[in-house]
Amino acid sequence: MASITMLENNPDAMISPEVLVPKLGEQLVNMGLLTSDQLQQALRYQHQSQKSGVTLLLGQAIMEMGFLDRATLDRAVTEQIVRLRAALEDANHNLEMRVQQRTLELEEALRRLSEYNLLKANFVANVSHELRTPLTHIRGYLDLLYTESLGDINPDQKKALGVSLQASLRLQSLIDDLIFFSQVSRGQMIVDICPVNLGKLAENILGPLKTRAEAHQLTMQVNIEPNMPYVQADEEKISWVITQLLDNAVKFTEPGGLITLKINRDPGAINLINISVTDTGIGISQDKIKDIFEPFHQLDGSATRRYGGTGLGLTLALQIIEAHGSVISVKSELHVGTTISFPLLIKEV
Ligand SMILES: Nc1ncnc2c1ncn2[C@@H]1O[C@H](COP(=O)(O)OP(=O)(O)OP(=O)(O)O)[C@@H](O)[C@H]1O
Ligand SMILES: [Mg+2]
Repeated sequence: MASITMLENNPDAMISPEVLVPKLGEQLVNMGLLTSDQLQQALRYQHQSQKSGVTLLLGQAIMEMGFLDRATLDRAVTEQIVRLRAALEDANHNLEMRVQQRTLELEEALRRLSEYNLLKANFVANVSHELRTPLTHIRGYLDLLYTESLGDINPDQKKALGVSLQASLRLQSLIDDLIFFSQVSRGQMIVDICPVNLGKLAENILGPLKTRAEAHQLTMQVNIEPNMPYVQADEEKISWVITQLLDNAVKFTEPGGLITLKINRDPGAINLINISVTDTGIGISQDKIKDIFEPFHQLDGSATRRYGGTGLGLTLALQIIEAHGSVISVKSELHVGTTISFPLLIKEV
C-alpha cells in the first residue's frame, strides 16, 4: 500500500501512476483481471467510503476487497501507462506533422501573396506608363493651343482650353502618384539626400497652394523661422510631402478656416527642424489616425464622398519620411482640426 495512500493525508498521492491512468477499472476488465461484477462492487465500495468522508482510489478499493493483489495491480497500471505513453507519442507526432504541413501551406500562401503583390505593382506601373504617353501628347497640344502657337483663339475657346489643361495636369499628377506607389511597392524608393534650404523650398511650392486656399475661402498662414540652417533631405520628395499635407489641409477644411505651415527649429533637439501643417478642418478621430496611412484608404469611403483623391498621398508621404530616417506625427481632434508634422536633420557645417 505504499504508493496508493489516502489523498487527504498525503497530497503527493495525486501523482501516483493510478491517478495518471484514466478508466483503470475498464482496463482491468478488458485485461480479464477483474469481472464487471467485481468492478461494480469495488466502485460501490469506493463510493460508500467517500460518503463516509474517506477518499479511496479505485485500485485501493479493489485491493481492500481482495479482488487483486498489489503486484498484479501495479503491473496492470504500468501496462496502461506504457500504452498511454505510446498513444501520446503518436498524438505528438501527428501534431508535429500537422504543424509542419500547415507551416508549409502558410509559406506557400505567403509566397503567392508576395507574387500577386509584385504582379499588382507591375500592372499599376505598366498601365500608368501607358497612360502617361498619350497624356503627354494631349497636354502638349493643349498647351500649344492655349498659348495660341497654332493660331488665334477666342476668349471662350481659351477658357475651355484652360479648364482642359488643368484637368490634364490633375490627371498627370494622379498617374505620377500611381507610378511612385508602384515603385515603392517594389521596394524601389530611393532618396537623394542633399543640403536643402527649406525657406526657398516653401516659397517654390506655396504659390499654387495659396491660390487654391483662397479659392476655398481659407486663410493660409506661413510661419518660417528666419536664418534657418540647411537640412539633409531629398528636395523634390520633401516638396511633394509638404504639398500633400497642404493639399489635404485645404481639402478637409471648411471655408473660413485657417491653414498654417510652420517650419522652425525643434525646441527639444538642437539638430532638428520641425515642419508642420495645421488646419482647422474636419479632424480625424483617434481610432482612425493609423488608418490614414494605409494605401487607398479614405475615411469618407462612401460612394457619394465629398472629397476627391485616391488615398495615396499620406501612404507615400510616410514612406518618404521614413526613407529620411524620420517619423510623421499626427495630432487631431474631430471638428477641431489636425496637425501633421515631421522633423528633418540639420546639415552639419
Ligand atoms: N488634414 C486632414 N483632415 C482630416 N482628414 C484627413 C486629413 N488628411 C488626411 N485625412 C484623411 O486621410 C485620408 C487619406 O489621406 P491621403 O492624403 O492619403 O488621401 P487623399 O487625400 O484622400 O487622396 P490623395 O492624397 O491620393 O489625393 C483622407 O482621405 C482623409 O480621410
Ligand atoms: Mg491627400
